[in-house]
Amino acid sequence: KVLILDFGSQYTQLIARRVRELNIYSEIHPFNKIPSNIKAYKAVILSGSPNSVRGEDVLHPDLSEIRGKKPLLAVCYGAQYLAHFSGGEVAPSNTREYGRANLSFIKDNEPFFAHINTGSQVWMSHSDTIKTLPTNGVLIASTHDVENAAYRIDNEETYAIQFHPEVYHSTDGKQLLENFLVNIAGIEQDWTPDSFIEETVADLKAKVGNDKVVLGLSGGVDSTVAAVLLNKAIGKNLYCIFVNNGLLRKNEFESVLNQYEGMGLNVKGVDASGRFLEALKGIEDPEKKRKAIGNAFIEVFDDEAHKIEDVTWLAQGTIYPDVIESVSATGGPSATIKSHHNVGGLPDFMKLKIVEPLRAIFKDEVRRVGASLGIDPELLGRHPFPGPGLGIRILGDITAEKVRILQEVDAIFINGLKEWGLYDKVWQAGAMLLPVNSVGVMGDERTYEKCVALRAVESTDGMTADWVNLPYEFLQKTSNDIINKVKGVNRVVYDISSKPPATIEWE
Ligand code: XMP
Repeated sequence: KVLILDFGSQYTQLIARRVRELNIYSEIHPFNKIPSNIKAYKAVILSGSPNSVRGEDVLHPDLSEIRGKKPLLAVCYGAQYLAHFSGGEVAPSNTREYGRANLSFIKDNEPFFAHINTGSQVWMSHSDTIKTLPTNGVLIASTHDVENAAYRIDNEETYAIQFHPEVYHSTDGKQLLENFLVNIAGIEQDWTPDSFIEETVADLKAKVGNDKVVLGLSGGVDSTVAAVLLNKAIGKNLYCIFVNNGLLRKNEFESVLNQYEGMGLNVKGVDASGRFLEALKGIEDPEKKRKAIGNAFIEVFDDEAHKIEDVTWLAQGTIYPDVIESVSATGGPSATIKSHHNVGGLPDFMKLKIVEPLRAIFKDEVRRVGASLGIDPELLGRHPFPGPGLGIRILGDITAEKVRILQEVDAIFINGLKEWGLYDKVWQAGAMLLPVNSVGVMGDERTYEKCVALRAVESTDGMTADWVNLPYEFLQKTSNDIINKVKGVNRVVYDISSKPPATIEWE
């Protein structure tokens, strides 16, 4: 496996993804928390950083067990770090160097640049530049503006590059990583969904043994894949609970429950809609609504878990981006975990041990693993849906009637996207019920009814997003359908806000 030391670059996760796309397992650790079993890693990559090696905020990794001892690739800040502290010189560049550049020189016969030719586009993003190479540095590539774009250290398997091979705009970035990891470091490309499944199932068997495990299914990709993996490992000792909080999409509870049963999962559907509605009665504040929904879920789940005799484990569908500890610009390791994520979400009165089979993998990998496990592609391709469900898409207080209206609107919108072949082009879509009545006219009657907003966004991780340019014809048809078919709605608007500043959900 490969160790990626994070110095806080916005691209660190991308490095891990590129490495994994080569079917090589990689892990990200903060630069100042090098794992003690460093011997288990066959190569190390140093990420970029918003910090400067010349500033007071310089980040010092302890490379004593790494440098010269195993293949090392230093990217951007990493490259500057190696230069600055090993006899070279780093200085501010006259012009800030951002964006595309092309390699104008590549040294002959360098295995690091195998299959890569001059002219290859690379992506730069730095404001310092390497003026002089470190001791024993050998220049191996330049661009028009940056002479020391890549170097290696003589008699070491140490390579350093100023540009970012991990971004797609560096067209040969993947080849470069392959040259380094496979040809130079000799790492085998044997990390595939099937090998992950095999290893994980064996680990789960060893870890859980004959104990009982409880898992909350949500209908989403992560919890489903986690459940199928556990089911493969421990079968009937896995007890799945699928709670209907009354805030799911139309018919979702019944159809997903059926699907789960069809997959051979030992699943219990618990319809607690009434309990949630009761808990939400009269609450208008978004955060209070979230808390009420969260607390009700914990209560329901806890009640159900207590009915399983001798259960000792709680399984969760936590994935890698939720657990990576990243480094903030100030150098202190900071968590980028959003408060609504599952990490640490265990109420402490539930004294269960936690098992998280997807803790090491990214969302796209979860989908690949799911496909290998034979899970229905439709389920794997589902849009994300928030835990509090329609509860945070009904602005203001929640009533059964409002839920019904929004379920109808949402179903027309989502089914329309599917019919028009747009569903898979959109990362997430949904409808919001606004606490606004407006005047309309239907037939010869004056109406005074609700307004709904449709939202469809493209994104990769939900952290940033942009609205999708849906065809007008589609919006026109959808709007007509909604107003004609859903009683209580007389106006439809389309949300054209990006995130930031707007969030994807309205509450
Ligand atoms: P925002 O609204 O913060 O949403 O832009 C980003 C992504 O997170 C989802 N989301 C949630 N997911 N529990 C969840 O499991 C929540 O409380 C929650 N709030 C937002 C949202 O649907 C989007 O995909």
